[in-house]
Amino acid sequence: MGWFITINVTRVGHLRPSDCQKSKEKTPSLALLLMNDTPRRVLSGIQPSGTKHLGNYFGALKQHVALQDEVPGECFYFIADYHALTTLRDADKMRQSVLELARTYLALGLDPDKALLFRQSDVPEVTELTWLLSTVTGMGLLERAHGYKDKVAKGIKPNIGLFSYPVLMAADILIYQSTEVPVGKDQVQHVEMAQDIATHFNQTYGSDEPVLVRPEARLSETPYVTGTDGQKMSTSYGNTIPIFTSGKKLRKLLGKIVTDSTPLGEPLSTDRCNVFALMQLFASGDELDRIASYYATGKRDGEAFGYGHAKLLLGELIERHFAEARARLETFTANPERVEEVLVTSAARARKEARRTLERCKRACGLI
Ligand code: TRP
Repeated sequence: MGWFITINVTRVGHLRPSDCQKSKEKTPSLALLLMNDTPRRVLSGIQPSGTKHLGNYFGALKQHVALQDEVPGECFYFIADYHALTTLRDADKMRQSVLELARTYLALGLDPDKALLFRQSDVPEVTELTWLLSTVTGMGLLERAHGYKDKVAKGIKPNIGLFSYPVLMAADILIYQSTEVPVGKDQVQHVEMAQDIATHFNQTYGSDEPVLVRPEARLSETPYVTGTDGQKMSTSYGNTIPIFTSGKKLRKLLGKIVTDSTPLGEPLSTDRCNVFALMQLFASGDELDRIASYYATGKRDGEAFGYGHAKLLLGELIERHFAEARARLETFTANPERVEEVLVTSAARARKEARRTLERCKRACGLI
């Protein structure tokens, strides 16, 4: 029996307070905990800063879209415009970037019937919860945030918003009673802070039952995406390949990929080749074998094969991979009202959930 109790503890995080309420118990019942279909809610946010690139695609967007089939109806994705405000100060750029990110998600296959896609600021309740949470959050916790420390180290003059960034993020997560938060490694600490903040809030105000659900970070296997200079692809390194670049522009960008100086026609090494590293993300196993044989011999069909040819091949693979998505992107670009409709409809559903949690929290604090 003791063994089962251990399971209970680890599973509590996957239950919403309403589930506990149903069982009229302070702790969820064993039967409830052993149910296979524990309710899942996936939540993630992305800042609308700049055009999204292959690193963002393989690191986040692709997984987000795939999760809509694993947990249909329970995937909440939002465009973190409130967070972006801590560093982005250009209204036109903000508006443009938000819509561009929304179009990108939809083009990549986000289906508004299965997943929500909304603007963070369309659910203003999240800022109200941020205040409640900030009153149970120690300064020390925030002072330890890597994200904050990194930005300050880079010379960004910190504002209060940047400092309390993790509290807003905790509110994002907790307000939807999220159980899992797919994020990259750099955001795991922020999710852990959300766990701590939820615990503090529950300990401070939870009377009979926890008010907030403890979320878990979900780190999925993501490939290392090499940038044009061989470092990890990242906007801050200026080495990105945007998802939807095509044609001449794409070829020009791929032309910049750093390679060694093996002469044309000589065997090439796949091991440390930045072009080959990117091809691995897009080619099928058979294709990759064939490409590896071009590398090994420095020849394709009897003709010399060099890095220039490899880059052209990579361009074709990228264009093929995103061909359907690019066609959808064009449709959404031509019909901005369809994008707006998704954002507004999703926000309405998200807001309903947010209001419910906020009300519970306010009641717990004695504000209602
Ligand atoms: N901080 C995240 C990032 O920069 C974006 C974000 C904001 C987020 N709120 C969130 C991610 C809530 C997950 C959950 O990538």
